[in-house]
Amino acid sequence: MNSSISSSYYNNSCLCPLFLVSCGGCIFDKNKGHLASPRYPHPSPPLLSCLYIITVEPSLTVTLNFTDSFHIDSMDTEQGPSCVRHWLQVSIPDREPMKLCGGKSPGLIATNSNTVRLDYHTDDEGLSRGWSLDYSTYKIDCGEPEPLLNGGVIFLSGFQYQYRSVIQYHCNEPFYTLPGGINVTFTCEADRKWRSNHNDVTPTCIPVCGKPTKLISAYQRIIGGSDAPDDTIPWQVLMNIDGARGGGMVIGDRWIMTAANVMSKGNQVSKETVRMYMGLTDLKTQLVSPVYAASIHIHPEYNNPNNVDFNHDIALIKLQDVITFNSSIMPICLPAEGATYVTGVMG
Ligand SMILES: *[C@@H]1O[C@H](CO)[C@@H](O)[C@H](O)[C@H]1NC(C)=O
Ligand SMILES: *[C@@H]1O[C@H](CO)[C@@H](O)[C@H](O)[C@H]1NC(C)=O
Ligand SMILES: *[C@@H]1O[C@H](CO)[C@@H](O)[C@H](O)[C@H]1NC(C)=O
Repeated sequence: MNSSISSSYYNNSCLCPLFLVSCGGCIFDKNKGHLASPRYPHPSPPLLSCLYIITVEPSLTVTLNFTDSFHIDSMDTEQGPSCVRHWLQVSIPDREPMKLCGGKSPGLIATNSNTVRLDYHTDDEGLSRGWSLDYSTYKIDCGEPEPLLNGGVIFLSGFQYQYRSVIQYHCNEPFYTLPGGINVTFTCEADRKWRSNHNDVTPTCIPVCGKPTKLISAYQRIIGGSDAPDDTIPWQVLMNIDGARGGGMVIGDRWIMTAANVMSKGNQVSKETVRMYMGLTDLKTQLVSPVYAASIHIHPEYNNPNNVDFNHDIALIKLQDVITFNSSIMPICLPAEGATYVTGVMG
């Protein structure tokens, strides 16, 4: 048996340009099989030009498994063997063709493609003892998509994680959103990778700032004062610094902004003494599950030894753990870079 390609596979004629060559064959409907050079395991005839094409359905990928007895004559040059007289060229779409020769079997070649073309050429000088391979096919499976923090992934179409399946990422609205609010879909492509319509990087969910789930309409100023309903000021932070109280606000999932004077009692307070509570609207609530500081950053120009100069009275606190936002804890928006505000005017 020289080559297992039988004549019935020769006939997908327009795709199989066998009239150009003296040997070979095309396979379109077999998911595994065996191919070998003419007369294998005996030496190949001279002056061959063989073409083999394996094409399987697009949801499959072809793997070639060359047997150990592989010998295609090569010319030895200073750079190593060079395939000038006899060679087997393996061509996979969108990739540089591989020219094989010499005495070492290439072993396993996973093409990640549903089609592969082999061109076998022998010269009238030298001797090629030939090659033999088993090919098999695998279902293209892209694997489980990367999970998305504060979001998730749904299936839009397709079967499991297989070829041409389409998935879509979404963020946990209304607390998180995808950048630009766009819908990001990924498709399982032939190279077993999830590829998106934008770039192939798993998106990130961005916290939504300044949009409490409940709005205060009536209480714009503290005159007389009224209790704030739950969830209306979700960025408010109660700080306890060694028993002293202070206020802060959530500006990101790992950052609290407060006044420098709260973080400085002559010297910067030590981060271990700072406890922060979020999602509260009532000071009389029992204070449980504090959040701790990883580091404290007082504005470098804050300089207020006698409590008279409140310029640069800003400090940032980096938290030990990332906050997951919900209706009771959400960040406030920071002004745009370079924004200016008129002093003495509210809001
Ligand atoms: C490749 O073929 C060899 C025998 O020639 C076999 O032992 C091996 O398991 C095959 N590898 C794969 C991945 O099919
Ligand atoms: C985003 O995807 C969802 C679910 O597939 C769909 O309901 C919504 O209309 C899409 N939005 C945009 C802007 O395409
Ligand atoms: C919001 O998250 C905080 C901290 O994880 C939790 O204690 C609180 O119960 C959550 N609130 C709601 C309304 O889910």
